[in-house]
Formats: sequence, C-alpha cells, structure tokens
Amino acid sequence: MHEKITFGSKFGTIAVVGGSVIGLGNIWRFPYLAGSNGGFAFIIVYILCSLLIAVPIMMSEFVIGRQTRSNPFGAFAKLSQNRIWSLVGLLGIVTVFCIFAFYSVVAGWAISFFKTAIFTGFSGQEPEQINNTFAQYINTGWQPSVVAIIFVIMTGGIVVGGIKKGIERVNKILMPALAAIIVGLFFYSFSLAGFSEGMAFLLKPDFSKINFSVVLTAIGQAFFSMSLGMGAMITYGSYICAETSIPRLAITIALADLTIAMLAGFAIFPGVFTYHIEPTSGPTLIFETLPLVFSQMPAGNVVGIIFFFLVFITAITSSVSMLEPIVQFAMQEFKTSRIKAVAGISGLVCIAAILCAYSQVDNSLLRISGQNIFDFLDGVTSKFFMPISALLIIIFVSWVAKKDMVRKQITNNGSYFNKYYPFFRIIIQYFIPIVLLLFILNLILNVF
Ligand code: PHE
Repeated sequence: MHEKITFGSKFGTIAVVGGSVIGLGNIWRFPYLAGSNGGFAFIIVYILCSLLIAVPIMMSEFVIGRQTRSNPFGAFAKLSQNRIWSLVGLLGIVTVFCIFAFYSVVAGWAISFFKTAIFTGFSGQEPEQINNTFAQYINTGWQPSVVAIIFVIMTGGIVVGGIKKGIERVNKILMPALAAIIVGLFFYSFSLAGFSEGMAFLLKPDFSKINFSVVLTAIGQAFFSMSLGMGAMITYGSYICAETSIPRLAITIALADLTIAMLAGFAIFPGVFTYHIEPTSGPTLIFETLPLVFSQMPAGNVVGIIFFFLVFITAITSSVSMLEPIVQFAMQEFKTSRIKAVAGISGLVCIAAILCAYSQVDNSLLRISGQNIFDFLDGVTSKFFMPISALLIIIFVSWVAKKDMVRKQITNNGSYFNKYYPFFRIIIQYFIPIVLLLFILNLILNVF
C-alpha cells in the first residue's frame, strides 16, 4: 500500500492544480487564438469545449488518481486486470517527459530575457536588433542549454521537497503573486493609447470565422491548457483529499485557467496595438514582439522585468506538474527514494532539453521526420499523444472502470453533484469519445 499523501488545504489544492494548468499556453497561445479566430465568438466556443470536453476529462483523470492514489501507470494496473491499460498510463508519462524537455528550453529563454531586462533593458533597441539578438542567442545552442538546465534544477528543487512541503508550499506563494502581477499589468495596459484597439482585437465577435477547424483548434488548446491527456492530472488527482468535490474542483480550475488567459490577453495586446505592431503568438510573441513593445513603452524596462518574471512563474508551476508524475512513477514502481528519482529524471530531462536546444541551431542535424527535435516533440505530443491518451482515458472511465466506483468518486458517495451525474455519464460515455475520434481522424487525414 502506498502512503496516502494528500494536499494540505483547499487553497493549496487549487494553487497546485491551478499552477499546472496556468502556463505558457495561457500567455502565448490563447489570446492570439481568440484574437485571430473571431474574438468573443471563439471565446464562447472555447468555453463550451472547456465545459463539455475538458472539464469532464479532468474529472475522469481525478477519479483514476484519487481512487488508486497511484501514479498513472500503477493506477490503471490497479483498476484493471488487463495490463494493456497500464500502457495508457505509460503513454502519459512519456508525453509529460517530452513536453518537459521543450518547455524547459522555453522557460530558460524567459530566464535569459529576465536577466536582459534587469541588466540592459530593451529601450532604444531597433526591431531588427531585437529579432537578431533572439536568433543569435538560439543559434549558440549552449546558451539556451545552460539556462534550460538551471530551470530543470530549480523545478527539481521544488519537487524534491514533496507534495506538501515542496510543491504546495511554493505554489501557495507563486500563484497569488502571478495573479497580482497579471492584474497589475492589466491596469497598466489600461493607461495605454491602444487599449480599446487591443480589447477589440480580443473581444469583438465575428461568428463568420467559426468553422469546424476553429472548433478543433479550441479543443486542442483546451487540452494543452488544462494539462490533460497525460500523467499530470492523474498524479495530482491522487493527492486530492477524500472530502474534496471533484466536479467543483475541476470547474474552479477551468474558470481560473480561462480568467488568467483572458487577463493575459488584456495585458498584452493593448501594448502591441499602441505601437502598431502585428499581433503574433508563440515564442515570437513573447521573445520578439513584446520586447519590441517594451523598447518603446514608458517604463518599458520595468514592465519587461515584471513580465518575464510572470512567464517564469507560469512555467515553473507547470513544469513541476510534469516532473512530479514521473517522479511518483519511479518512486512507486521502482521503489526508489524521492531524491534519487528527482535526480535521475532531472538528469534525463536535461539531456533531452539540450538536444532540443541544439536542434534549433542553424543546419542542425538533430531532426526527426523533417523537423527539429524541439518542434517535433511539441507537435507529436499535442497532436497525437495528448488526444489519443485522453480518448483512452475517457473510454476507460466510462466503459471499463466499475460504474459504481466512478459515481462514488464524482459525487463523494452521493453528497454532491447527484442531479448532474446522469448528464456527466452521457457526456463521457458517448459525446466525448465521438468528438475525440473525429478530432484524431481529422489529424490523421491532415498528416497523410
Ligand atoms: N497547461 C500548461 C500550459 O498551459 C502546460 C502543461 C502541459 C502543464 C502538460 C502540465 C502538463 O502551459
């Protein structure tokens, strides 16, 4: 029997799970996706996808975790005689490892930019200069590698403290700091000339942009942003207290995720429009477009420091939730100590991160099927591993696991959510599997 470790408090639970879901996805992808896919119309689609697809999947992962108090691999082994299902857990662990590898490279960039913001600042730099600096920096290979390693070590430093004394304690400080920073940045952007234009970019509804592919984009974004379809939520589910209501927790987390993603957009795009810069997404937004904004904005250096600190916080609280499932797996399945598991796995992640960083150097030979390793891992995890494992998890919970067990977990033995339970059942049994099948089919058709 594994020792039953649980989160220490309600706030701690929300800070830890919220720390996982609120990440780079909220800052560099959601606002741009909303802006370029119909504004408020996209946001409505996204909210529907969150509520009808992402939240039920998150609840299902929590059920698997809390019922077994195990790592993703061990959890399936406990719930089913058929060993094949453990492979789903293993796929989750592999996924989270791959994501951690490239995520730590990006987090490392944020550390470097934080350092630049403090020591040199961005003001007075020309656009070409800013773009060149970023390209040259990536092209060294070793510079991004070193900071990625530093970032992995910092993540390991938190995870080695365990759930309560490490992860929960740190997240209880970092998450309120994150909320305060993002609200502060929002108020600052309120004072900028481009405020209303930025808000219009994000919020002006254009329903004509909504089509099948936009819906699929919203689903994909909801998956990544809610950390679904991998080990993370099964592992965190295994630490949820018996008294916590799973539906309530999942809905709270979804709301927090959406709120921060919207606030990120409100904080970022007014600045972009104030200086008539083209809105972008992904690394370009954070490491090229925004430095350009900071170079022109009053007090841009201070805003830059605060912003890159924000990016760092969102990244480290997410990366903790990538390392913990693998550590829990190693501890429970190979009976190693936490410290040895953290050291060994962090070492492996560092190697993978270095490969990612060097694969981005010009003419690098580190390529898989025509892409550099960084892009390959990003693509293969979000396009294939996450949706496939989410589909298998939902099929497991709705069709394979004992119905009574699932109901007891979701309703806390009949104390909450009873009225909505039949609806939840229909959604996980029929609606989500069909939607996910379509999603995966579409991806496969697009590849071949
Ligand atoms: N949800 C995080 C984000 O939005 C990413 C993440 C993926 C975190 C997988 C944990 C596990 O950036």
